[in-house]
Amino acid sequence: MNIEEFFDRIISVKTDEDGNLNIIDQTLLPGEIKRINLNTKEEIWEAIKKLRVRGAPAIGVCAALGIAKTASQVQADNYADFEREFLGLKDYFASSRPTAVNLFWALNRMEDTLKSHKEKDIDEIKEILFKEADNIRNEDIAISRGIGELGFKLLKKLKRNGKEIGIMTHCNAGTLATAKYGTATAPMYMALENGFLGSDMHVYCDETRPLLQGARLTAFELSNACITTTLQCDNMASVLMKSGKIDIIFVGCDRVARNGDAANKIGTSGLAIIAKHYGIPFYVCAPTSTIDMNTATGDDIPIEIRDSDEVTDMWYKERMAPENIDVYNPAFDVTDHSLITGIITEKGICKYPFDKAFEKLGL
Ligand code: MRU
Repeated sequence: MNIEEFFDRIISVKTDEDGNLNIIDQTLLPGEIKRINLNTKEEIWEAIKKLRVRGAPAIGVCAALGIAKTASQVQADNYADFEREFLGLKDYFASSRPTAVNLFWALNRMEDTLKSHKEKDIDEIKEILFKEADNIRNEDIAISRGIGELGFKLLKKLKRNGKEIGIMTHCNAGTLATAKYGTATAPMYMALENGFLGSDMHVYCDETRPLLQGARLTAFELSNACITTTLQCDNMASVLMKSGKIDIIFVGCDRVARNGDAANKIGTSGLAIIAKHYGIPFYVCAPTSTIDMNTATGDDIPIEIRDSDEVTDMWYKERMAPENIDVYNPAFDVTDHSLITGIITEKGICKYPFDKAFEKLGL
């Protein structure tokens, strides 16, 4: 299977030939590649909440296609009734997960689209909403490529004859988390497109406890793309960095605050602290839709707290901890902007002071 066929097979969210909202169920990976249709608002909400579809940009795309689909089922014969139903759906989808700003960004964009076509008839508005959701999906593909091209320039500078480039990543900010190339993985996919061999790079994937997105998803994706891939437990990252094997770190992001603090999967900030100690460049890969200028600092980013059984029970549901043990299970942490070498967006690489750099991008 060539890489394009592989991308097609694992595309996170799409509308299929029959117009269904179709996702790959990421909770079953890597054991089973199963695609499912999401037909009702409850199914869409549950798929986001339970991480069947996950990763900030993919959640945004799913919510956009989801609201277009469920709004098309609304029976209303005037605009006011239709808007009321639409806003109810928007609030419902927005309640699925709190941290990734792309969810709210995509839903707000859909609302703006609706409100700018008030004068049209309802059937036409329904079509326009589908088109806008599709635009969001297609734009995400272009955005990932933009991030990838800038990240690839950094990789090219690291290429030395005969020595592989050591890249560390955390969680899954890959194809599965976006509409196509990922964010943190996009530099590697662009490298492949531009003549690098899979063996020119060596990607070290943190397993990413508790839900193992690194082991189940990133290691699966990259090894299938024939990129040399090693999986390690999260607590092994520091040894790897000390060993000199890691040249650069790319991570994804769920929300960047105005000052550059970046929320990403739990464990990311620890990596950044260790990377600073060992002098390893630490890059956050983020579409501009992930930068939230309305959030001043990382302290203002809502951090999702998830169910305790994600920590106490193995992925395959074998209990590993005492019954009734108290559990702390934050799904994200915030990396202080002082630890971030640069934030790679599709429009350019932002460096400290981040707020000024974001303003220069027009945010
Ligand atoms: O809880 P998840 O699996 O949705 O967390 C995902 C991440 O933390 C990703 O790194 C982030 O959303 C960026 S995806 C391009």
